[in-house]
Amino acid sequence: MGSLFGSEQTDGFLGEPAQPDERRQLTVLFYDIVGSTDMLASLDPEEIRETLLRVHSIARSGIQANHGSLEQVLGDGGMAYFGFPDPMEDAVFQAVRAAHGILDARAKLERNGQSMPDVRIGISTSIVILPGNAAAVRQGALGAVGVAPNLAARLQSVAEQNTVLVDRATHELTRRAFEFDQVEGLSLKGFPDVSVAFSLKRQKDVQSRFEMARDSGTPLTSRTEELARLRNAWDKTQDGSGRAIMVLGEAGIGKSRLSVALKDEVGKSGRILTLQNQPSTTGSALYPLITMYERAWENREQDQGIANAAVATADLLRGLEKDPNISSEERRRRIVQGCAEEIRRLSWERPCLLAVEDLHWVDEVTLALLEELARTVRQHPLFILVTSRNEGVTADTRAVFEDMTLGPLSEGDSHALVRAVTEDALSARTRDWIVSKCDGNPLFLIELSAFAKQARESGESEIDLLNETGVSSLQDLLAVRIENAGRAKRSARITSVIGRDANYLVLSKLAQTRFPEPELEVDLHQLLRQAILETPDNGGTYVFKHALIREAAYQTQLRSTRKMLHGKIVDLVENDPAVRARVTREALAEHCLGSGRIEKGVDLLIETAETAIRRSAVTAPEASLQRALKLTAKIRDAERRRETRLRIITLLGPLISQVAGPRGAAGIYRSGQELVFDLEEGQRGEWFPVLWGWWFTASDQKEQLRRADVIIKGISESESREARLQALHCGWATQFATGAHDRCLAAIDEGLELYDTSVAETSRHHYGHDARVCGLGERAQSLWMKGDVEGSLAAIKKAEDWADETGHTPSTLHALDMATLAAFYRRDFDEIGRTLGKITDLTGSRELPVIAAKREIFGGWFAARSNLAYDADRVRNGLQSLRDLGALEDTPIYADIVAETMTLCGKAREAVADLDREIEEARQTNLVFWVPELLRRRAWLSTMIGEDERAAGFLDEGFEMAKHQNANMLLLRNHSMRVQLGLDVPGEVSSTLLDRIDLVSDGPKKAQALKFLKRLNV
Ligand SMILES: Nc1ncnc2c1ncn2[C@@H]1O[C@H](COP(=O)(O)OP(=O)(O)O)[C@@H](O)[C@H]1O
Ligand SMILES: [Mg+2]
Repeated sequence: MGSLFGSEQTDGFLGEPAQPDERRQLTVLFYDIVGSTDMLASLDPEEIRETLLRVHSIARSGIQANHGSLEQVLGDGGMAYFGFPDPMEDAVFQAVRAAHGILDARAKLERNGQSMPDVRIGISTSIVILPGNAAAVRQGALGAVGVAPNLAARLQSVAEQNTVLVDRATHELTRRAFEFDQVEGLSLKGFPDVSVAFSLKRQKDVQSRFEMARDSGTPLTSRTEELARLRNAWDKTQDGSGRAIMVLGEAGIGKSRLSVALKDEVGKSGRILTLQNQPSTTGSALYPLITMYERAWENREQDQGIANAAVATADLLRGLEKDPNISSEERRRRIVQGCAEEIRRLSWERPCLLAVEDLHWVDEVTLALLEELARTVRQHPLFILVTSRNEGVTADTRAVFEDMTLGPLSEGDSHALVRAVTEDALSARTRDWIVSKCDGNPLFLIELSAFAKQARESGESEIDLLNETGVSSLQDLLAVRIENAGRAKRSARITSVIGRDANYLVLSKLAQTRFPEPELEVDLHQLLRQAILETPDNGGTYVFKHALIREAAYQTQLRSTRKMLHGKIVDLVENDPAVRARVTREALAEHCLGSGRIEKGVDLLIETAETAIRRSAVTAPEASLQRALKLTAKIRDAERRRETRLRIITLLGPLISQVAGPRGAAGIYRSGQELVFDLEEGQRGEWFPVLWGWWFTASDQKEQLRRADVIIKGISESESREARLQALHCGWATQFATGAHDRCLAAIDEGLELYDTSVAETSRHHYGHDARVCGLGERAQSLWMKGDVEGSLAAIKKAEDWADETGHTPSTLHALDMATLAAFYRRDFDEIGRTLGKITDLTGSRELPVIAAKREIFGGWFAARSNLAYDADRVRNGLQSLRDLGALEDTPIYADIVAETMTLCGKAREAVADLDREIEEARQTNLVFWVPELLRRRAWLSTMIGEDERAAGFLDEGFEMAKHQNANMLLLRNHSMRVQLGLDVPGEVSSTLLDRIDLVSDGPKKAQALKFLKRLNV
């Protein structure tokens, strides 16, 4: 697995430069011209030279055409390396192909009447030591050291004329593509243990390997209308207007068979891409697409176009996965668009059938890709044909496909199918019995018929046997079928532990831990014959004919045996690189868990979740992390358990927040916080993102303030600067909300001292926005509250400039959000227009729900203020959305805007009712920085609804609060409202204002207040 997309890519064809003196696998080819000394007797030296050159030349072109490098040419022979200087995964195939090509070319020349000497070729593959410097090898310095060069030479020396002899390793690796005859009884100098080699017979017909993959064992029964509909859709596709059809039905009903029938017809007129989903890969983002492309790359000689798309897609994913500067939504969008583009491009090269099997197991990123393709399918020569069980697909997904539901076969068709698969060998009574049991399910019909036929062949009475076994369901039957496979069932079971499809190499190594390989070969043969397994690639992989058959083989063995086998697979992966390369990380996780190796299994679940997150998946990694979290209960070592849990929570928290909002993630962060605080001081900083999440998901302001305190106290001087900065970051945001402006400003000063530009590069992604942007923006707001308008303007400008410089969009949005609030404080409408415009530019069409809600509020307010429209509901709904989304931090401001707009809409009474609720709630939750202003508005509204006598009370209250907050600007506003309403100004208010007025920047209200105070003093 995975040379193209996986973590081993650097060893693959994209090759990193060779390391100095590396150990790796190399295939060596030796060729030799037979009897060149004999030629001396009959030929002129000139002619001999000619002849030798002719052979060397066909050898050279055969080797070069297959990417080998000719390292030595001696008088009558030569040696070539394959997989050198750059390692190539298919080097060994290339070597055999080259040998085949040389002999072919030789034979052709001979047929054309040229005199050609005989040639012998030997090939061997082994681990060798290679000098890092390829040039040195060329210049005759030491070449590869190891078995392969020597054994290849020996094999060549004993090969028959005009044949190729390969060693066991080469045979093992290439036999799925070539046919060999085993040669025994060899005795090779220097290799006393090697008595067997393999003589190349011919190249297997590659096309036929793929024909085999087609499940067309039984002729298609019924389904004529359905097939006609698919055919018609394919015609439309070829005309450039594609279709997307979803074939639905229960397991075994014939969905895949129908898809195969269409593939047969599409044949050469189109390109077929098959995406196969598996139950175990739901958590593995883009699994079917990546697997399809990896296969296409391996077989690139068949369709270079798909291979090119594979490379382009691999590059795209690699680039996006590594880019830390994009949000996961953005990454998802680009991955989906990029992959979709490649597939569309392929379809424009040649009309394309994208056959997707078992959509009910699809991973979410592939699903997003398919939905995207399906939505636009009519503009491309692309036919998306998916099969799915009814459960497991949402209505949204269904909506983008046309439905085609497969029901049971009719009784007549069921009879026909039974007759076809049993070649009429059963009695009518038995057939009736079978048809009556199977409810028209073809899989059941076929299985039961095969079972009855087997019974008949072994001389038993079918009906009795059928009745005796008490087979009443498909599951029962499959269990019996596995049981009846005799000794071969052990191999079926071993295969089932590996999965629905098992790579032969993995399977043979696993089986060999229990019995010798030849026995496995016999078993497999038997299982193929009984149609329990099939091998789509002639022995490369063995696949259960149906997912349900694999289930049966797996379930009908002892739990302890399964556990043992899972464990053996893990051991093999650990010790054998060849096995490791063929077992995915997801599968390995299951094997670890299946064998009770919990710690390693959990680590792998975390690892695969991280990979999925990098590919922008959300729900699948969430599910595997939740599962991992549960499993941590089984980790014995307390410290390790805690660390693993914290790692999981660090990843899981943001995922849950994304899906279910901050509220949904509160529980998990609460448990995370407890774990962090179990750690010694000085070790907590590493887990700061967990604490941050805990703070962020507090239910209200009061609780958030408490948490900020806990965090600041718990993060001591000994923690990293970054941890301390982020602790203060929680602190200042919370202080501001409670109106503690002096403490807020102090926390910002202290925090920004700790800010480090290079650390911020990554940390801004963990915390959603840049700490400096946030600090400067918050400073702007607190300074304004305190009366320093110029200082506030300067800070907000710095915040926005710095955000722009980081190029981090969420930080810029954060700066603009705070700039909007600051402009609202100043009632600077031009500035609000500017900030909202810039937000629109940045978010484009992909409106975030919080921003959309705010836009409704501001939009409704602007419209009412300029007498354009009076739509109170618009602003009220906007505020409600903010609450629903859990975006609470600035709700008092928006409540103020709502109250003003409602008043403008002539709904003062309702505005009062709303406002009272808002004030009460803000008090309850200690979100009070704007409450003095809400009380001021409340006073003014009192006079509007004829309750003038209450106005002074609200203003008194607001005054106390503003004074306590040192919010001098709000004090001034409080005062001027009293003047505006013609209320008495208490002496306490005047004297406080007199004390503080110098702290407030100049403005009309200040001038008015100074006039007033002067008059008072006189
Ligand atoms: N209409 C049919 N005619 C002949 N054989 C069929 C038909 N439908 C299904 N089968 C056979 O029944 C078995 C199960 O069908 P399959 O297509 O794999 O089911 P599904 O994909 O719906 O789970 C396969 O062996 C298939 O060849
Ligand atoms: Mg199927």
